[in-house]
Amino acid sequence: MVAPMDLPLEKDRPGLRELLAFYAEAGVDEALTDEPVDRFAVSEAQPAPLARQAEPARAMPAPSRSPEPRMPPPAVKTPVAVPDEGQVALARQRAATAATLDELRGHLAEFDGCNLKFTAKNLVFADGNPQADIMLVGEAPGRDEDLEGLPFVGRSGQLLDRMLAAIGLDRQTAYIANVIPWRPPGNRTPTPQETEICRPFIERQIELANPKVLVTLGGPSAKTLLRVTEGVLRLRGTWKVHVTSSGMEIPAMPTLHPAYLLRNPAHKKLAWRDFLEIKAKLRSLS
Ligand code: URA
Repeated sequence: MVAPMDLPLEKDRPGLRELLAFYAEAGVDEALTDEPVDRFAVSEAQPAPLARQAEPARAMPAPSRSPEPRMPPPAVKTPVAVPDEGQVALARQRAATAATLDELRGHLAEFDGCNLKFTAKNLVFADGNPQADIMLVGEAPGRDEDLEGLPFVGRSGQLLDRMLAAIGLDRQTAYIANVIPWRPPGNRTPTPQETEICRPFIERQIELANPKVLVTLGGPSAKTLLRVTEGVLRLRGTWKVHVTSSGMEIPAMPTLHPAYLLRNPAHKKLAWRDFLEIKAKLRSLS
C-alpha cells in the first residue's frame, strides 16, 4: 500500500495530498500504470465545460492502465420533434383547448412539436390590438422580429405601417400575426410540414380574435389560410373567405407582401388598390 503522506508532494500542486488521501480511503491504493498520470495537467488541458453548475456529479475516476481518455463534453439536450401527423394532431388539440388568446400564446410557448422553436430566439405571437376589426397575417418572422418577439418590426414592417396609415389604421386599430410564429433559420422558406404543424395555432388565433376582415400578406399566407393554390398576383384584390375550424366565415383579402413590394416598388399601386378595397369593406361592416 502506498501511504499518501510518504509521497513527495510538489509545492505548486495544492490539493494533491488531499486527493491521494481521498483515493486511499476509497481503497484505491495501487498505481496500476507504469507511467504516472498527472491529472492536474490533464484537466488543465481540457476546455472548461460551458455550464459548470449544470454538470452532473461525476463518479470517482477509476484507475486505468492508459492515460484517461478525453470525455466528450456533455451533449446539450435539444428536444427533437419529428414533423409528422402526430405533431399536427397534438397542435390541433392544444390550439382547440385555448379559450383565450393569452391561453393560446401559453400553449404555443409550451409546444415542442415544431423544430423551428429550437433555432428561434423568441416566440413571435402577435402585435397590435386583438379587438381590432382587421387582422393581418404574414408568413413567418425575420431576424428583427425574432430579436424583438414582435411581428413586422423590420423594414417590411415599416412599409406595412405606412400602408396601414394610408387607410387610417395603425397598431392600435389593427392586429398582426404570422402563420409561423418562429423564425426559420436564415429566413428559409418554412417546410410544408412546419406550416401544417403551425396551422392549427394561427387558425385558432384568427378564430379567437374574430376580426371583421382578414388580410393575408403574400402568397404563403394566402395559400395556408384560404386553401388556394393560385399565385398571389392572380389572387390579390379579390375577396375570399377564411373558414375557421368551428365553421365561422371571415371575409379575407389576399394582398402582396410588403417585403415583395420593397423589391418590386412598381407593384405598390396594386397593394394600394387592395388597401382601398379593405377600407371600403371595413366601412361597410361598421
Ligand atoms: N415577414 C413576415 O411575413 N412576417 C414578419 O413578421 C416579418 C416579415
